[in-house]
Amino acid sequence: MVEKGVDIAPANGKLGILLVGLGAVSTTFVAGVEAIRKGAAQPIGSLTQMGTVRLGKRTDNRCPKIKDFVPLADLDDIVFGAWDIFADSAYEAALHAGVLEKSLVEDLREQLDSLKPMPAVFSQNYVKRLNGTNIKDGKNKMELAEQIIRDIADFKAEKGCDRLVIVWAASTEIFLEISDVHRTIEAFEKGLYDDDANIAPSMIYAYAAIKSGVPFANGAPNLTVDVPALARLAEQNGVPICGKDFKTGQTFMKTMIAPGLKARMLGLDGWYSTNILGNRDGEVLDDPESFKTKEESKLSVLEHILQPDVYPELYKDFSHVVRINYYPPRGDNKEGWDAIDIFGWLGYKMQIKIDFMCRDSILAAPLCLDLALFMDLAQRAKMKGVQEWLSFYFKAPQTAPELYPEHDIFIQLMKLKNTLRHLKGEDLITHLGLEYYD
Ligand SMILES: NC(=O)c1ccc[n+]([C@@H]2O[C@H](COP(=O)([O-])OP(=O)(O)OC[C@H]3O[C@@H](n4cnc5c(N)ncnc54)[C@H](O)[C@@H]3O)[C@@H](O)[C@H]2O)c1
Repeated sequence: MVEKGVDIAPANGKLGILLVGLGAVSTTFVAGVEAIRKGAAQPIGSLTQMGTVRLGKRTDNRCPKIKDFVPLADLDDIVFGAWDIFADSAYEAALHAGVLEKSLVEDLREQLDSLKPMPAVFSQNYVKRLNGTNIKDGKNKMELAEQIIRDIADFKAEKGCDRLVIVWAASTEIFLEISDVHRTIEAFEKGLYDDDANIAPSMIYAYAAIKSGVPFANGAPNLTVDVPALARLAEQNGVPICGKDFKTGQTFMKTMIAPGLKARMLGLDGWYSTNILGNRDGEVLDDPESFKTKEESKLSVLEHILQPDVYPELYKDFSHVVRINYYPPRGDNKEGWDAIDIFGWLGYKMQIKIDFMCRDSILAAPLCLDLALFMDLAQRAKMKGVQEWLSFYFKAPQTAPELYPEHDIFIQLMKLKNTLRHLKGEDLITHLGLEYYD
């Protein structure tokens, strides 16, 4: 039965994408969108731009592009803004990040130079390896949040935006756990006035976004918006939120391969993952406290996919180790190795080796684009609070408190596409397919 679908406001006017952090990922994202707008590149890696969605029966031949199926903002209607602790424009920051060829950055110089970051909310207590000067002053964290709220309103007015989305693509903060100050909105707001140490800068941006009615996506593994107080505030204010930690290199591979091993009932003795990475993100993650945040995010996926409780003969006590080594010569071109020890019929042992020579920001940039466009869609469809259907993009997907996250990338993709079908009142696809044999 086809449902009626959901009323979705049209994507009229300009969409402002505000990026927290104007580093490797953000500048690669912005430069990519500019290059695509000029007709100089294709949006490779972006589901919103290149992906399709099958509708109805396999015999119906209905397979529109996602961007033609749901009303998404057009790339020509996007306007960028940013905050960073360094005052470099996107042009200077892109050259510093060294992801893109200099000639491409030069071709886009005019557009990139016009993107200058606003002063950031920052404290070195939360990112030990960075030291910048483009930083706001405030007598307490609430005052800093109010300054961000003003930045958001001023940006919207100056650029004539109809709608905004905020994406956190700033550095990974130190590991924090949920504590009392994160449990209720009242405790959180009191904590802002009291300068509570458990409120990290990323949470101040997230609070300001939600107060301003702006969707907030978190691309780093920090807790940020994944705390009860902010999830509740987002519900109350009708604001979509999602996170955490873009799923790009090694974890992307892991969440493709682990479901396959489980599908064939092959056992796992261990999975050793190591990376070398030489960009600023690698430098930040060289600090044990920031690495701990990343490690937690990367470790959780196998347990959830393989379900050792359900399959103890196959997955009880497997060893899972994740390492990231800062190695400057490689810059953004990360190399990730996986040594996977599996066993099959009669317990015979086998090995799988992966050597993924990836480019971190090249993989992350299209995720930024998709998240911004889908979060804007969610808001126009009046979806609020945690957007679990966007788990596809994250290493540690945010869910309702009583739910475990879905990590299997194929289930995540099905969930995403079924959400789009649901929004448009199309039949959900179950892959049952018995009707073809009636
Ligand atoms: N590239 C990937 O594949 C990938 C995957 C998953 C997660 N991430 C995460 O995305 C984030 C960005 O990665 P990157 O490679 O662009 O890093 P980067 O170091 O190049 O850029 C981060 C930027 O954030 C700025 N910054 C730090 N704290 C800030 C604050 N409080 N306010 C405003 N700006 C702040 C830094 O000055 C820097 O310019 C990191 O947290 C990283 O762990 C990246």
